[in-house]
Amino acid sequence: MTTEWKDSYTSKCVTAVEAVRRGVKHGDHIVLGHAAAAPDSIVKALYDLREEFKDLKTFHLLYLGEPWHLMPEMSSTVKPYINFLDKNSRIAYREHRADFIPCHFHEVPTLFTSGAFPVDVAMIQISRPNAEGYCSFGISNDYTKVAANQARVVIAEVNRQMPFIGGDNLIHIDELSCIVEVDRPLIALPPATIGEVELKIASYCAELVQDGDTLQLGIGAIPDAVLQCLKDRKDLGIHTEMFTDGVMHLARSGQINGARKTLHPGKIVTTFVMGSQELYEFLDNNDTIEIYPVSYTNDPYVVGQNDRLISINSCLEVDLTGQVASEAIGINQFSGTGGQVDFLRGAKRSKGGCSILAFRSTAQNDTISRIVPMFGEGSNVTAGRNEVDYIITEYGRVRLRGLSIRERAEALVSVAHPKFRPMLEAAIRQRFYGE
Ligand code: COA
Repeated sequence: MTTEWKDSYTSKCVTAVEAVRRGVKHGDHIVLGHAAAAPDSIVKALYDLREEFKDLKTFHLLYLGEPWHLMPEMSSTVKPYINFLDKNSRIAYREHRADFIPCHFHEVPTLFTSGAFPVDVAMIQISRPNAEGYCSFGISNDYTKVAANQARVVIAEVNRQMPFIGGDNLIHIDELSCIVEVDRPLIALPPATIGEVELKIASYCAELVQDGDTLQLGIGAIPDAVLQCLKDRKDLGIHTEMFTDGVMHLARSGQINGARKTLHPGKIVTTFVMGSQELYEFLDNNDTIEIYPVSYTNDPYVVGQNDRLISINSCLEVDLTGQVASEAIGINQFSGTGGQVDFLRGAKRSKGGCSILAFRSTAQNDTISRIVPMFGEGSNVTAGRNEVDYIITEYGRVRLRGLSIRERAEALVSVAHPKFRPMLEAAIRQRFYGE
């Protein structure tokens, strides 16, 4: 075992301010670590040094850390480019201080490798090194590993509290330019609020899940509620994009063991993790968990190698032909494409697999139907109508795949809120029956 890396490690340790001064140049494209692995101290240093730089561009999906780079006073230094809005970046986007790059999650790494969004600097958060000098990307590999491999300069927060997680999830000390040592708890998220409606929707989803199936679960309360309805299943597997507390609970109680998985049997495969402190501790040196770059986990060809892959995601609106808007309402961008289409396509390739889009039938205290005759002006289609399979609301489940557009419309009315069915039926009569 070589320990030469230890001297190299020590020589690279600097303050965050020093790291930014050494590493960043005017005009640089900077990729920031994702979600709960936000490299806060480095971004704060960039904020403190804002007068010293110009024409910087940052890129990230979710950023759950302190949004220093999104502050109004950073506007003359940094232009933030974002691929998935969260509560802070939504404000910056609406105030025209940030811009949005559309891209499927599994293709984000190729933005960097193709030079479409070049990476000069990667600011990341990783674990402490193991005995061979490898650090783990811990809870967030997604696009971060590829960005670090691609960057001229890698500035890494080495956080004592970042779990060491395996898979294709390591970076050697030699590949880091500067190290900023930190010791702070990871950003933890409260559990999703699950009410009666979510549980009803989840129960329709759970009816499709058999013993031995492999699951992908998306973002929001409904996927977590589905897990609560699977307590009597066995040999479930996980091949997902995002890993949350619900998966941990079922893994601990034995329903999830990956015993029948056709790809990575016995392993939980994911690309990032968001949840409680307990979840992060569960992951540390847990050899049943493997984290890979999103270009692998979300590649529809990889997803499809899992037999009986059931993908469960949510959306904001569906039109009567089955087009899906999941990331924006009209021209108001709410989130991003994420891996939704990656998994819709992967599930279609999976032998015996299927995909589900599950959502409440209404929004805003039942004043708006989420099943609509057609989208409003300026809406973005996240998933085209050829991608869609099952649609589930609290009123039931319909399978659109294989149905004509007229049959789809009629099926969708049956799962719309009763209050909006006359309006939808009138739209069908006009559009499909010439009345
Ligand atoms: N019109 C107006 N408002 C709407 C609406 C509509 N059609 N549909 C939803 N809303 C509102 C809701 O009322 C809610 O408002 P509130 O926050 O004031 O309560 C808000 O929009 C969010 O809706 P909700 O259904 O609670 O969202 P969620 O947290 O369950 O997330 C998505 C749903 C679709 C936004 C989320 O799943 C997403 O971003 N998906 C795209 C990416 C993806 O699927 N990735 C997959 C792998 S992780």
